[in-house]
Amino acid sequence: MEEEKIKFSTNKDVFYNPNMTFCRSMSSLAVGAIDETSKTNETHVGLDVVDAFCASGIRGIRYAKENQNVSSLTFIDIDQKAISLAKKNAKSNKLKSDAKKGNISKLAFEYTADFLEIDPFGTPSPYLLDSFRFFNPKKSAYLSVTATDVAVLCGGKTAPCMKNYHAKPMNNEFTHETGLRIMIKRIAEVAAEFNMGIEPLVSFSDRHYLKSVLRVKRSADLAYESLKQLGYVFHCHKCGFRGHSQFPEISCSNCGSKNDFAGQLWLGEIHNRKFVNKMQGLNKARDYTHKKEIDKMLTLLSGEVGMPPYYYDLHKCSQIKGSISMPKMIEVIDSLEQQGYQTVRTHFSKISIKTTAPYKKILGGL
Ligand SMILES: C[S@@+](CC[C@H](N)C(=O)[O-])C[C@H]1O[C@@H](n2cnc3c(N)ncnc32)[C@H](O)[C@@H]1O
Ligand SMILES: [Zn+2]
Repeated sequence: MEEEKIKFSTNKDVFYNPNMTFCRSMSSLAVGAIDETSKTNETHVGLDVVDAFCASGIRGIRYAKENQNVSSLTFIDIDQKAISLAKKNAKSNKLKSDAKKGNISKLAFEYTADFLEIDPFGTPSPYLLDSFRFFNPKKSAYLSVTATDVAVLCGGKTAPCMKNYHAKPMNNEFTHETGLRIMIKRIAEVAAEFNMGIEPLVSFSDRHYLKSVLRVKRSADLAYESLKQLGYVFHCHKCGFRGHSQFPEISCSNCGSKNDFAGQLWLGEIHNRKFVNKMQGLNKARDYTHKKEIDKMLTLLSGEVGMPPYYYDLHKCSQIKGSISMPKMIEVIDSLEQQGYQTVRTHFSKISIKTTAPYKKILGGL
């Protein structure tokens, strides 16, 4: 098997999904964009990477082979076959690694990480508490989380999402953003229990998964600052109006109907523009299969910084307005920009925009 020029073995007993190559490339760029010299009070430079659900080991191997700033690589998996394979793959790629078979919940007390990769089957929720144990006694670290329980985070069913994320989801045209923000909210809550604040560096929704790479910093004040960024997004199914605040608004301020809402969720930024731009620079110098797709994604993510925590599906807005035809997306964007409202495309949906314009102005242009 080969992924981005890295040769490795797979077998029928160990999980490997070639469709996650894009995700692994994005994450590897994120590792590369980390300035390891920013570590404070540490005795060595470089990242101790723990690939905690390693399967074949391809993620960790790619992080270490493609980036200069990885100083050590540890594999963890509950399955001995995965551990043996990851070890073999690291060795054939001339990488030194440590590998341990076991449950992450137990091994969290034995290992420390500067960069921890959490890529379980389904929800990362049960492993978040364990994740933060890997950061003891670090002052700052990086957490990379994948969630494939998109139906829970982005569906309309309250019970499973409440159970796993302590939040109500909302099923509408911008459900992927609320889902991603619910996942980040849960990370902020768990981080706070460890006296850590979070800063999402890059976050995205793609195919069947949601992903976020975050910087975590130990400080009671930062932990509380993170919690202050939690709140609700509300939406009127009747007129399409939406908003966000610390508490959900029960009635639509536009038409008076009852609002639906999602939350608590993360209302802060989900990317750091400088970090995303650095990833983009690294991507230009690499020869990834998805180079163009990644560049496009990173451009969209960079544009989303500073924008509201939801987007507008222009088809849906046109339907609500009762328009027979819809102007081109670029015309809508240009018109709102000319009126002084910052307006961008979003990676969440090809037919949607994010804008600082009031809802009436958006409908006015359709
Ligand atoms: C989705 S796969 C990981 C894929 C891999 N990161 C990649 O990019 O190819 C999940 C892996 O987690 C392992 N696993 C499941 N529960 C675990 C646990 N509690 N502790 C450690 N590993 C676990 C499984 O054996 C499986 O190999
Ligand atoms: Zn309304």
